[in-house]
Amino acid sequence: MREARALLLLLLGACSSERAPFAEAPAPSEQDAGVDAQTSPPEVRSPAEALDEDPSPDVVHVTLHAARSQVHVEGRVFDGYAFNGQVPGPTLRAKVGDTLQVELINELDEATTLHWHGVSVPVAMDGVTWAQDPVPAHSKFTYAFTLTHPGTFWYHPHLDSHRQVDLGLYGALIVEDPAEPRADAEMVLVFDAWDESGGAIEAPHGDMHAHAQTPVLWTVNGVVGGAVEAAGGQTVRARLINSSIGGYLSLSWPGLRQIGGDQGLLSAPMTPERLLLAPGARAEVEWLIGEQPFAVVNHPYSLSGGPTEQAPQTLFEVIPDDPRPAPSPIAWPFDGLRAHDDPGYMDILYVFSGSQETGNWMINGEVFPDVTIEEIPLGETAIIELRNLSDTEHPFHLHGMPFEVLSIDGVAPLYRTIEDTINVRIRQRVRLRLEANNPGDWMAHCHILPHAHQGMMTVLRVQ
Ligand code: C2O
Ligand code: CU
Repeated sequence: MREARALLLLLLGACSSERAPFAEAPAPSEQDAGVDAQTSPPEVRSPAEALDEDPSPDVVHVTLHAARSQVHVEGRVFDGYAFNGQVPGPTLRAKVGDTLQVELINELDEATTLHWHGVSVPVAMDGVTWAQDPVPAHSKFTYAFTLTHPGTFWYHPHLDSHRQVDLGLYGALIVEDPAEPRADAEMVLVFDAWDESGGAIEAPHGDMHAHAQTPVLWTVNGVVGGAVEAAGGQTVRARLINSSIGGYLSLSWPGLRQIGGDQGLLSAPMTPERLLLAPGARAEVEWLIGEQPFAVVNHPYSLSGGPTEQAPQTLFEVIPDDPRPAPSPIAWPFDGLRAHDDPGYMDILYVFSGSQETGNWMINGEVFPDVTIEEIPLGETAIIELRNLSDTEHPFHLHGMPFEVLSIDGVAPLYRTIEDTINVRIRQRVRLRLEANNPGDWMAHCHILPHAHQGMMTVLRVQ
């Protein structure tokens, strides 16, 4: 059944690429002149899913080919990289308890790795270079591990990642919990940011100054200004992933209801006015499709200080086909757990420093790889404090284990908040609680990947 569905999605994916064939992509100048306001918006579809090649119900085996590829953005062509020829790469879908095997075939002329962002994997499968030799150009490697926690995760290389991710190497990994209720439909929405200049389109990695501004152009599953079609009267679980290397999303739409974060369902649903999705972060939201279309809007957000004066942009619309009265929300099994008490002390302090002027980004004044390795005994609970003394915001990401957010500037969340990527605003102080239950040398870094590349990374040892 899963295979049949995956195949269908692959075929759908193939159809959608026929909508903008490589050969017919217009030259940039023609494209600029030829925007046709009369055509209906392009459809935003979930990325095609990878085919499970293993017949066992508890093993998902997929093959990912990393190769050069032409990437189409707004009818323009960009020479990038892709997994299986698609950007975003194929969605990998499995359930809790499954063994995931991913055969990576590296057809690039450079080495690469795969990192499973947000997934608690054994360190040898983590895709960092001290735990695994990078997969050399034109060779292969099989990643294999058991999935222990449901949620919306993603995969991307962890070698030269500010370039390789930006060129198009990223995709969603969905781990389902069969005990959770199912929405009528599910959407996977992967966001990426692009620089647009003189009609050309490029990934922003080359422009180290770009991070001072907000990115010009956002794609949702590769589409700009598209529409999601959904049946009226239905519930949709949408899984949002910000795969951009440095662009922030601050989203809103009428009736915004967040049900999940980095690590699956929240402890209680939230109805924020705006949903902040920092680079690397995920959110799950519920749409109750009724009779009216609605727009998903981004309020431009600058990493040098948050909300900006720039006008909001519509990223895509959600359009009911067959309008019907909206359904009621699903009874998701929120656990209702309260936040842990903050014990007040700290085991580890990470201070972020650096400035856009110098472009030197540091944790505790150190530039990776010349860093102090902090240690936590296996099985202990550690309190980590983050302080941002730099002049930009930084989304802090830890490999290997998720953490609980105890407080932000002294304010504790009401409910337990488990994340693996947390944005730290300028001058902010964030306190985290970590159950150190996965042994290894784990990378901790800023998920603005050019910052990480310039040294804003460290190593946390659990043993
Ligand atoms: Cu998503 Cu160390 O990365
Ligand atoms: Cu940063």
